[in-house]
Amino acid sequence: MRLLVVLAHPDPASFNAAIAATAVESLRGLGHEVLFSDLYTSGFDAILGRQEIAEQAELPPVIEDHCRDLERAEGIVIVHPNWWGMPPAIMKGWIDRVFRPGRAYRFLEGDGGEGVPQGLLPARTAVVYNTSNTPAARELEAFGDPLERLWRDCVFGLCAELEFHRRMFGVICLSSHQQREAWLAQVAGDMGRLFPTE
Ligand SMILES: Cc1cc2nc3c(=O)[nH]c(=O)nc-3n(C[C@H](O)[C@H](O)[C@H](O)COP(=O)(O)O)c2cc1C
Repeated sequence: MRLLVVLAHPDPASFNAAIAATAVESLRGLGHEVLFSDLYTSGFDAILGRQEIAEQAELPPVIEDHCRDLERAEGIVIVHPNWWGMPPAIMKGWIDRVFRPGRAYRFLEGDGGEGVPQGLLPARTAVVYNTSNTPAARELEAFGDPLERLWRDCVFGLCAELEFHRRMFGVICLSSHQQREAWLAQVAGDMGRLFPTE
C-alpha cells in the first residue's frame, strides 16, 4: 500500500516526532510505500493566498506535490499536538492548501456550494495521533474534544469514505520514559493492525 504520514511539530526531538518516526518505520518494515511529510522541517508555507482559492488555479509546484501525495494515498496518518484544541497553524494551512475542491472533494452538479460535497480521496483508513497535557476526561467534558470532530467529521468525513481512528496520548508533561515507550509500541501495533500486508 501507499501511505501518507504527515507531522506537524516544531521540535524534531519531540514525542510527536517520535510517533511519526515510529509510524514511518513500522509501515516501511511492513513493506509499504511511505510518503512522509514533516511540515516544519520542509518549511511548509501555511498561508492560502487569494490566487490559489479558485478550483482551476495554477498551483505552486510544492502544493501540487502535496495534492498528488494526498490523492495517491491509500491510507493517511496525521501526527500533531493539541494546541488550544486545534492543530498547530502549519497543519491547518496544510489542510487549507492541499484539501482542494476538485481534488479532495467536489460538489455535485447543480449544487452551488451549499450542499454536502462528495469526497474524492481514495484513502480507506485514516489515523490521527495527538498529544495533550489535559486529562482525556477533562478534554471531552470541558472542551468537547474538538480535534476528534475536526478530523473525523470536518476533514475526513467530507473528503473520503474511510475508517477513522484516533489516539490522544497524554498527559505528556507527566509521562515517564516507560509510558512513552509503551505508547510508541501502541503506534507500531496500530500500523500492523490497520495496514496489514496482503
Ligand atoms: C501553543 C501551545 C498551545 C497548547 N495548547 C494546549 C491545549 O489547549 N491543551 C493541552 O492539553 N495542551 C496544550 N499544549 C501542550 C501541548 O499539547 C504539549 O506540549 C504537547 O502535546 C506535548 O507533546 P510534545 O512532547 O511532542 O511536544 C499547548 C502547547 C503549546 C505550545
